[in-house]
Amino acid sequence: MRGVVLISGSGSNLQAIIDQANNIDLDVSCVISSHADAYGLTRAEKANIPTHVIDHTEFDSREDFDQAVSKTIDQYNPDIVILAGFMRIFTEAFAQHYCGKMLNIHPSLLPKFQGLNTHQRAIDAGESEHGVSIHFVTAKLDGGPIIAQSRVAILADDNSSSLAKRVLVEEHKLFPKVIHWFTQGRLKLENDNAVLDGKIL
Ligand code: GAR
Repeated sequence: MRGVVLISGSGSNLQAIIDQANNIDLDVSCVISSHADAYGLTRAEKANIPTHVIDHTEFDSREDFDQAVSKTIDQYNPDIVILAGFMRIFTEAFAQHYCGKMLNIHPSLLPKFQGLNTHQRAIDAGESEHGVSIHFVTAKLDGGPIIAQSRVAILADDNSSSLAKRVLVEEHKLFPKVIHWFTQGRLKLENDNAVLDGKIL
């Protein structure tokens, strides 16, 4: 299956996907970054994957930015669009366009801690556990149907970076696994529900 991966930063999830690509029947057609200095671009180049930078600061509106991203994605006619640390909020039209084939990874146990600084916010809230969620993208920010989550305990001496590191380990395991469900045709979005092997998740 052909996939396009969108990033904004380090691209460690992208790396996990590239490393597993053969095992999960995924052909990464291109990587698109909203930031020219994203290290993930180097990771893609090392893997001989075409890259595109679409710098959000060069666009006057969210609509214009989204249209440019869409145009680039659609050149590759992908079966799946993978948001791997893409830190932009989409317009509803963009989300609709890829409805049922766009997955996002978010570093919290959704619906808790949507948005930014999730690790610090989980610590500040006195949570005993934290983690990662993967969901279908719908028009709601970090709010589409959840497909899978992994949990980590929050330790007494955790700070946001120690916690982020442990969550990332789980992200790198969970994202390729969920993408594989999708490429195998086992995972679908049906009536706003995430469905795996015919069962609502
Ligand atoms: C990851 O922790 C991912 O869950 C998060 O950005 C990080 C990207 O790291 N995504 C979001 O916050 C989306 N709202 P990476 O570039 O090393 O994969």
